[in-house]
Amino acid sequence: MHWTASPLSSALGAVATQVSTGGSAKASATPARPKRPLIPAVLLKFVMALSGFVLVAYLVVHMIGNLQIFWGPTAINGYAEWLRTLLEPVLGWEGFVWVVRIALLASVIGHIWAATLLALRAKRARPVKYAAGNKVKGSYTTRTMRWGGVIVLLFVIYHILDLTVGVANPVGAHLKPYENITAGFAPDRWYVTLFYVIALLAIWFHLRHGLWSAIQTLGWNSNRREKTLKAIATVFSTVLIVGFLIVPISATFGWI
Ligand code: HEM
Repeated sequence: MHWTASPLSSALGAVATQVSTGGSAKASATPARPKRPLIPAVLLKFVMALSGFVLVAYLVVHMIGNLQIFWGPTAINGYAEWLRTLLEPVLGWEGFVWVVRIALLASVIGHIWAATLLALRAKRARPVKYAAGNKVKGSYTTRTMRWGGVIVLLFVIYHILDLTVGVANPVGAHLKPYENITAGFAPDRWYVTLFYVIALLAIWFHLRHGLWSAIQTLGWNSNRREKTLKAIATVFSTVLIVGFLIVPISATFGWI
């Protein structure tokens, strides 16, 4: 083929040369083919969903267990002790509780690890930043989930120091959740209750969006069912959070 010396033909000629020779200028002229990630995104999403499920299952059981405080100190303190006796012949005293703790820790680590990798990939796939004031809904939700996740993590660390280890609680007695809860959320410690309310609202947002994402990952959503599934995610998260909130609020108002 004969090429004339026009600018267009020079450009085409350069491309033709590169294609035919596999030339070294290729990197600057054509974008590099994206590398296949070592861990597929679908596996990361599966880890998110599975670890999220374990954490939600724990929350449901925990919330129902907490409500026993309305039946008095014997009920909730007895429940805390009973939990330590579960599978005792096989696992020993408190062995079951340790199995749950290890499962929770593994789930939290898996959840954060998969979320971080997915977020980094999403960032890499969009190297050009959005202009100010031009944020899309997706990036808003992603930021809310990220910061919500950080608040939840900080809350859980404080919460364990408060009601499990006891060092952040005025009573901090072992196996005495009734005394620890009523003292920890006493009226003059209203700011602790306020902190719990804020953290639980963050958990509500995180949970509602997380449930909806999990439903989408599992492919259960469809246009027809979208509204219903979103409503189920909202109602479930609300019932769970109200079930939690009612305990510190009742302690602060002296109802328990
Ligand atoms: C707001 C209401 C809540 C109350 C009154 C409450 C109460 C308690 C109590 C009394 C314990 C100690 C249980 C024991 O030693 O047997 C505990 C442990 C724990 N709670 Fe909560 N909790 C609440 C909310 C939450 C939330 C929202 C989460 C998670 C996001 C959570 C996660 C945990 C964890 C991880 C432990 C440690 C379990 C262990 O290692 O033994 N709690 N909670």
